[in-house]
Amino acid sequence: MPVTVQRVLGIESSCDETGVALYDAEKGLLAHALYSQVSLHEEFGGVVPELASRDHVRKLAPLVREVMREAGCQSSDIDAIAFTQGPGLAGALMVGACFGRSLAYGWGVPALGVHHMEGHLLAPMLEADRPDFPFIALLVSGGHTQLVRVDGVGRYQLLGESLDDAAGEAFDKAAKMMELGYPGGPKLAALADQGNAERFDFPRPMVNRPGLDFSFSGLKTFTLNTVAACRAESGLTDQDKADIAAAFQAAVIGTLVIKCRRALKQEGLNQLVIAGGVSANRQLRAALSDEMSKLRGRVFYPRPAFCTDNGAMIAYAGYCRLAAGLSDDLKVTVRPRWPMTELDAVEAAE
Ligand code: KG4
Ligand code: ZN
Repeated sequence: MPVTVQRVLGIESSCDETGVALYDAEKGLLAHALYSQVSLHEEFGGVVPELASRDHVRKLAPLVREVMREAGCQSSDIDAIAFTQGPGLAGALMVGACFGRSLAYGWGVPALGVHHMEGHLLAPMLEADRPDFPFIALLVSGGHTQLVRVDGVGRYQLLGESLDDAAGEAFDKAAKMMELGYPGGPKLAALADQGNAERFDFPRPMVNRPGLDFSFSGLKTFTLNTVAACRAESGLTDQDKADIAAAFQAAVIGTLVIKCRRALKQEGLNQLVIAGGVSANRQLRAALSDEMSKLRGRVFYPRPAFCTDNGAMIAYAGYCRLAAGLSDDLKVTVRPRWPMTELDAVEAAE
């Protein structure tokens, strides 16, 4: 007999954030907790996979306890457990998958491995102001830059993607060139607020070519050359860094806006969702809001805390699938590389 799934515990551990959340079909998000490993990886200038895995081991159980306490729930109140199965760092994913699968076994409830990018894509559904299907999603994270036509849960058509670096990765690398520290994206974005975006004329990659793919590697080289030129001239000053950050950010945003406009036009849609770590970028949100009001459309994005990795999006994406009767067997598997287009469609999520 199928189990009615009302309350789902979600677990995220694909990279450098441990996230846990509890989603209820009627009440929405009951509680969520996040532990960021930023201070752990800071001295290495990037994520050290082995350290990430070990830290997920340390943090998962306390975070689950915290979320259950905050929601006033006991194990018997939980109907199912969802965990991130991929894509991401294999060891880090394995920690969340083993933990989630075992906990579900112990509690006698179903478990399901969730696609991390589906989690990002559906995160705007956790907000009061949410889009209706169909819409275009711009997924911009540390590992992905994709334009997707979304016709329902699991009904995804990839329209375009980055041929090289992801947008977040480009932010991180540009930040590294200017020694801004880790995590680079938010640091570069903060510095860009103090810079003059007009001083350097950065290229807008791929905008003159038809199609919806992206490429950020040329922009990376341009940034490297600009940094080197400033250094050779009079040493790289704080103002140089701020101006480069502003010009770099404007070039990335300009490209993303143009491609979004093109995707909406091609598909004849007027709702845009942006999700993934880079969607926390204030200037990007402002530029896309502007663009969408010009197009008489709407843009939807998660609250900033749910743009970057979190457990709430996994709990919600898991809920959509578990409530439709899907679940995994007892095998613990992770999928570090997992194209989102391989997901099965789910009929009528709610
Ligand atoms: O979605 P996410 O938390 O993790 C992945 O799934 O990759 O995205 C992390 C990425 C990093 O590259 C980070 O630098 C970038 O998102 N990011 C930002 C901002 N906040 C996070 N990039 C630009 N501006 C931001 N405010
Ligand atoms: Zn992510």
